[in-house]
Amino acid sequence: MARPNPVQLIVKKRDGGALAPGQIRALIEGFMGGDIPDYQMSAWLMAAFLRGLDEGETVALTEAMLRSGKTLRLASVQAPKVDKHSTGGVGDKASLCLAPLVAACGVAVPMISGRGLGHTGGTLDKLEAIPGYQVRIDARRFERIVAEVGCSIIGQTQQLAPADRRVYALRDVTGTVESIPLIVASILSKKLATRLDGLVLDVKCGSGAFMKDLASARALARLLVRVGRGAGQRVAGLITDMRAPLGCTIGNALETAEAIEVLRGGGPQDVRELVLELGVLMLKLAGVHKRAGAARSQLSRALRSGAAAERFARMVAAHGGDCRVVDDVTRLPRARQRVPVPALRSGLVRSVDAFELGLVSVALGAGRVRADQPVDPAVGIVLAKKPGEHVARAEPLAWLHCRSVASARVQLGPARRAFEIGRRRSKPEPLVLDTIEE
Ligand code: URA
Repeated sequence: MARPNPVQLIVKKRDGGALAPGQIRALIEGFMGGDIPDYQMSAWLMAAFLRGLDEGETVALTEAMLRSGKTLRLASVQAPKVDKHSTGGVGDKASLCLAPLVAACGVAVPMISGRGLGHTGGTLDKLEAIPGYQVRIDARRFERIVAEVGCSIIGQTQQLAPADRRVYALRDVTGTVESIPLIVASILSKKLATRLDGLVLDVKCGSGAFMKDLASARALARLLVRVGRGAGQRVAGLITDMRAPLGCTIGNALETAEAIEVLRGGGPQDVRELVLELGVLMLKLAGVHKRAGAARSQLSRALRSGAAAERFARMVAAHGGDCRVVDDVTRLPRARQRVPVPALRSGLVRSVDAFELGLVSVALGAGRVRADQPVDPAVGIVLAKKPGEHVARAEPLAWLHCRSVASARVQLGPARRAFEIGRRRSKPEPLVLDTIEE
């Protein structure tokens, strides 16, 4: 069959038409084969962003990006295999806790994660804060670690959905990230590339997320579930609040230390709660428990007994990392300077804006503005106050962990403005806004 002219595909989408599955396949094949240059693909992505894709087109795009690479079967892994994916947030260290925790409960977690982009953090950057941890390993070693340890967290390889890597890189620089069908195809093409028994999604909602309101988070969650299930994948998920940062830390080593606290049975209440809620769905999808109560009890026991922390140490060691960090988080990189962010008035913290603090953290060096930038593992923010807490005038709202006092000084204003202080406490919102069960 003759290849369609890329200009016709762009024009059809620009004018609001729906592309046939074969046309979407040709678009991705042409792009990956070098016949369709970046500028034409970018034009098509913008047309798709503005006009949307219907469900048939979203399925076709997911399948075409999935077929651009290989599928990992993980045949030597005997346990049921479940993964979790978050749509991205600020202070979200749940994956670091969940993979070893769920593995300690008898379910294998082969987790393919991403890096931080824009104001959001990334699991790979947090793991790389551990001296020696390698996130780029080949598929054979990945499978061996999952079989032996029960969990492994790595970066997307060249073989898994390579079209998504290239399309995502274009979306990132052309203002076309926040599109529900494009996000669905991006996430699912990666996740369907590993043969899983279940996939749990954490769709974030609020200022620190791509989906700012509940209606769009619900629309994203519903489409993810429908397209995932349509491809034969068992999918469940949560919509969770991302208006305030999760936990008390933002920044790579700081978040890894906090994740270790949770794995050792402590840590901030919101992180623990999110980890338990997602863990329950993972154990249920894996068929280990039918009832949430029983799943939650097993997960809580694994945190209290040290089994989850021990699993994390084994995973770190298998990836070449210094597993002594689990017993001694001071082995993680630490910033030279700590600068307080004092409150200008006393009152109650009504809200903490995750988006603004995410940007401050990036400006301190914890994140990247371009995909190829290095990050500083040591820098970031430690929140001294969370929503609902009282603050006195001049008391620190947060601490900036930074390379130099000068680099922190310019961030004091933006960091302070992220905290809304008032006389009355704002109504607390639940962490879990909605659940999408199997
Ligand atoms: N995460 C992804 O993997 N892809 C997107 O498009 C957005 C978030």
